[in-house]
Amino acid sequence: MVKLPVRLESIANMIPPVSTIADIGTDHGLLPVYLLQTGTTKKAIVSDVNPRPLEKARKTAQLHGMESAMDFRLGDGLQVLEPGEAKVIIIAGMGGLLINSFLYSCPQKARNADYLILQPMQAISEVREYLLANGYRVLEDQLVKEKNHFYHLIKVKQEELPATGIGTLEAMIGIQWKKQPPELLREYIVRLLDQMETKKDGLLKSNSLNQRALSRCEKQIKQLEEVIEWLQV
Ligand SMILES: C[S@@+](CC[C@H](N)C(=O)[O-])C[C@H]1O[C@@H](n2cnc3c(N)ncnc32)[C@H](O)[C@@H]1O
Repeated sequence: MVKLPVRLESIANMIPPVSTIADIGTDHGLLPVYLLQTGTTKKAIVSDVNPRPLEKARKTAQLHGMESAMDFRLGDGLQVLEPGEAKVIIIAGMGGLLINSFLYSCPQKARNADYLILQPMQAISEVREYLLANGYRVLEDQLVKEKNHFYHLIKVKQEELPATGIGTLEAMIGIQWKKQPPELLREYIVRLLDQMETKKDGLLKSNSLNQRALSRCEKQIKQLEEVIEWLQV
């Protein structure tokens, strides 16, 4: 059985048994092989925009005897899929803006999946903003720590909900932040506060003070400090 790192294992745990999954930007192919081994899916479509990672995934599949259950596709984002052929679409380990661009350029394909699991590496707030502005229902928004890194796993369904905005706090620490284990959330916020204080110092030292950016930064720090207080009650 493939041994997954915590980040990928947490994604796997979000997926109930389905007929077909698609792993977009698969690289090593570990997650789809694991999902086949555990019987979570019967078939896995795996894609990558680059041939080398796709070959890597094929090797992982061969090593574990899963090649016949996998469909290897070279291509960009969701363009490799036909609408409705994958019940679950996983897009993990990529930048948030790239993930948004996949959803934006193939809305029909996103809509026809039962749900999508997104794990952006950067621009995480922008992904949450995009999802709420574009009719997605957020089913789970989970914080995971692996070694010294925090990851955000967002499980969504396209339901054509009315577009809504998102508060700064929810965009930063997650739509379901109150559901996170308090110690983990506290640790994450302490990390964020450290980054925000560094940003604030940079803004204050800058020759041309950007008052708007400074106010925004101070507001975010205040909100994060309030959550820390709330967590201690
Ligand atoms: C850091 S790896 C993540 C691998 C795996 N999904 C994970 O989470 O461990 C990112 C992969 O996305 C692929 N990728 C980058 N841009 C892509 C695109 N436009 N469409 C499909 N795959 C892409 C890269 O080639 C690379 O293999």
